[in-house]
Amino acid sequence: MSSMRTPMRSHYCGELNESHIGADVRICGWVHRRRDHGGVIFIDLRDREGLVQVVFDPDAPESFQAAERVRNEYVLQISGTVRRRPEGTGNADMTTGQIELLGKQIEILNAAETPPFQIDEDDIGEELRLRYRYIDLRRPVMQQRMQLRARIARQLRRFLDERGFLDIETPILTKTTPEGARDYLVPSRTHPGEFFALPQSPQLFKQLLMMSGMDRYYQIVRCFRDEDLRADRQPEFTQLDIETSFLNEDEIMGLMEEMIRELFAQVLDVTLPTPFPRMTYAEAMRRYGVDKPDLRIPLELVDVADLMQDVEFKVFAAPAKDPKGRVTALRLPQGGNLSRKEIDDYTQYVGKYGAKGLAYIKVNELAKGRDGLQSPILKFLPDATVTGILQRTAAADGDLIFFGADSAKVVSESLGALRIKLGHDLNLLTSAWQPLWVVDFPMFEWDDKENRWAALHHPFTAPNIDDAQALRDNTGEALSRAYDMVLNGTELGGGSVRIHREDMQAAVFELLGIGHDEAREKFGFLLDALKYGCPPHGGLAFGLDRLVMLMVGANSIRDVMAFPKTQTAACMLTNAPSPAGEKQLRELGIRLRAKAAE
Ligand code: AMO
Ligand code: AMP
Repeated sequence: MSSMRTPMRSHYCGELNESHIGADVRICGWVHRRRDHGGVIFIDLRDREGLVQVVFDPDAPESFQAAERVRNEYVLQISGTVRRRPEGTGNADMTTGQIELLGKQIEILNAAETPPFQIDEDDIGEELRLRYRYIDLRRPVMQQRMQLRARIARQLRRFLDERGFLDIETPILTKTTPEGARDYLVPSRTHPGEFFALPQSPQLFKQLLMMSGMDRYYQIVRCFRDEDLRADRQPEFTQLDIETSFLNEDEIMGLMEEMIRELFAQVLDVTLPTPFPRMTYAEAMRRYGVDKPDLRIPLELVDVADLMQDVEFKVFAAPAKDPKGRVTALRLPQGGNLSRKEIDDYTQYVGKYGAKGLAYIKVNELAKGRDGLQSPILKFLPDATVTGILQRTAAADGDLIFFGADSAKVVSESLGALRIKLGHDLNLLTSAWQPLWVVDFPMFEWDDKENRWAALHHPFTAPNIDDAQALRDNTGEALSRAYDMVLNGTELGGGSVRIHREDMQAAVFELLGIGHDEAREKFGFLLDALKYGCPPHGGLAFGLDRLVMLMVGANSIRDVMAFPKTQTAACMLTNAPSPAGEKQLRELGIRLRAKAAE
């Protein structure tokens, strides 16, 4: 840190410690707090590295008077001598807690109005924080997060640089790259009526770089997706984007998890498992109801449709017989003490995911048979079914078993979400870090609404069937050569081996209902490039914001982005988006429809 010495400043505030006692130093920073203590003035001066206490006494009247004038968030330069704090006045919570600066000279570099919130307040509304983001970012917790983010990026770059990956930039003004969201469009002035799309990812460019013989590429790159926002989704976000030639999926996954393991070891001193466990998509959906299971929660879904096919209760029997239905149990060990009100609340909760109810059985005392159970659906279930359920869920006295019956989609989503909620509500999380690879995704999913196949990943992902005709004949069975890295229930990154033959790419477009002409118009350049010598290749992209969010323990990616957008994709700080002037619009060839009311 001493390399940061400049003419204005000899040390960072937060860097000073007992080894500096006796030294004359000069620091710059913001007034965190100022206290008048009967003739002595204390100023806590704050900079990026932390706080230090500065004392002014009336013996030096000039600086004392200046110290009297300063207010919170004034920017000061202070010269003084480091000394040990008087006996009994140390502060063990502060790194600089054993020392203080005896202030000799003070220069007010800038005054500040009273800030809209105090820097050491914890409970500040997010709107206010985002509007005054430059003040919010002064808060020590945000300073630490930004520093950790920079450190994480540095570490990732170092890992990839050392292994021969080239950092190459790709265009931002480009053509649509389908990643499943809406595009942000930018009108072209020089081509009136035409638009660039901002990239949802650099997917096609990184594949073209492989075709260009660059062999190994990476980029820390901004991506743009106009989608509904959540705590872990922003309209513009950052990927660590990676692509390599001549490696298969096992080799790519091996390299990627080595990178994440090294990162966690170096930055957090955490040892992640070698190798990361792997789970198929089918198993993840069956046991956890989601394709990104949080393995810290020791609860599992157990299918019971076969036991329910002939029960009187139609709500259960119908989906049990329907190939697209699902009937599943979720045992909550020692959940029998949940109150009626709590169960009602959980019923409401699963309702948000489309569940029409939340049946349950309380297992009071197994030895008493039916009399030892308590449930609104017991009367509908024959003995064999009840015994089957208790055995299959391994129920014990004191447990509660929840049930979901509906389409597979609704049951998986609602009970999958309930599992996570119960895990958090009841403090069931077992360990700090649970990484995992999810593999063997279906290549295509049938879209009932559109009546056609849809891709689970982007349409450049290679199927495990190598022959185009065989793929047409077995579309529903094909798996993709894709892999997702999941950490604690968050999808950190995803990637795949890519299609590297033109006939296969054309077949996949065709199966997705992208006709020849549309494929040529949107992806002609890719189809052409595939004809001119394309190596086998694959890669992956991590959501850098999500990775940082998990590593710093933040609840939202907004807390690890310097200037994030709100839930409605607006920037509170600059007030973007905002209307454009008429002249500008005219130049762009855009005419706005007059508002109806005007
Ligand atoms: P995918 O669409 O899965 O794959 O994105 C990769 C990772 O980016 C993160 N991510 C997001 N983070 C914040 N806000 C968002 N709106 C958002 N959307 C995605 C996630 C996700 O795992 N081109 C492919 C990668 C590849 O095949 O190599 C792609 O973009 O952490
Ligand atoms: P009802 O006969 O509608 O009062 O439902 C009896 C019990 O079954 C209640 O506990 C409901 O919450 C539950 N239930 C109703 N529909 C479903 C469903 N689709 N899945 C799971 N439980 C349900």
